[in-house]
Amino acid sequence: EGARFTVALDGPAASGKGTLGRALAQACGFAHLDTGLLYRAVGARAAAGEDPVAAARSLVPEDLSRADLRSAAAGQAASRVAALEEVRAALLAFQRDFARRPGGAVLDGRDIGTVVCPGAEVKLFVTASDAVRSRRRWLELRAHQPDLTQVEVLEDLRARDARDRERAAAPLRPAPDAMLLDTSDLTIEAAIARALSAVEAARR
Ligand code: CDP
Ligand code: CDP
Repeated sequence: EGARFTVALDGPAASGKGTLGRALAQACGFAHLDTGLLYRAVGARAAAGEDPVAAARSLVPEDLSRADLRSAAAGQAASRVAALEEVRAALLAFQRDFARRPGGAVLDGRDIGTVVCPGAEVKLFVTASDAVRSRRRWLELRAHQPDLTQVEVLEDLRARDARDRERAAAPLRPAPDAMLLDTSDLTIEAAIARALSAVEAARR
């Protein structure tokens, strides 16, 4: 009880990290942090004219509940500010403190296993084919953006993934000791079962 235990979930856009993170946290009684939301909130403040580094240094909880953070535009704004080393540095302490909370934590993002929590007890690199990821994200977004096409979503995800992989600061890549989890052909339940068994194996 109260032992520190960190699960790091990384992967490209709409691979299923957030869904797995929430489910693992609930099943294990861990806290969950969607780190993408931090970058989306900084991106939103930058889009409103603020300096992104200043925004990252003064982020408050209310920033994380702003409307529209899930939109494709917010995702693009996030990936632009996420390439800035000083923005990433400003968000690091909060993420590391979260990861160390007693009782366990799950963090999902791009650099959790490589930079934020290189000592995490469990590291999963979650992937899915481009077609599957764009379909999943399109199904989510179309309720709010009825004119959005699946091809537009695909192009958006590809542009963001390329920027995230090619940047110098904490690029998206699997940690050497991460377990790869391809969810292309898995139901949500099956993906959760795989992730849970990885956590259970590490807890024994
Ligand atoms: O956090 P990330 O962007 O990686 O993805 P997500 O928000 O967890 O998942 C994107 C969408 O795909 C959600 O609507 C999930 O319900 C769905 N999903 C799925 O259909 N099958 C999976 N194995 C995982 C997620
Ligand atoms: O949900 P989805 O996978 O589409 O995106 P997200 O996890 O909300 O992340 C939005 C953007 O924030 C990503 O495209 C990255 O540029 C950035 N990000 C990052 O650089 N590092 C993280 N740990 C999390 C997100």
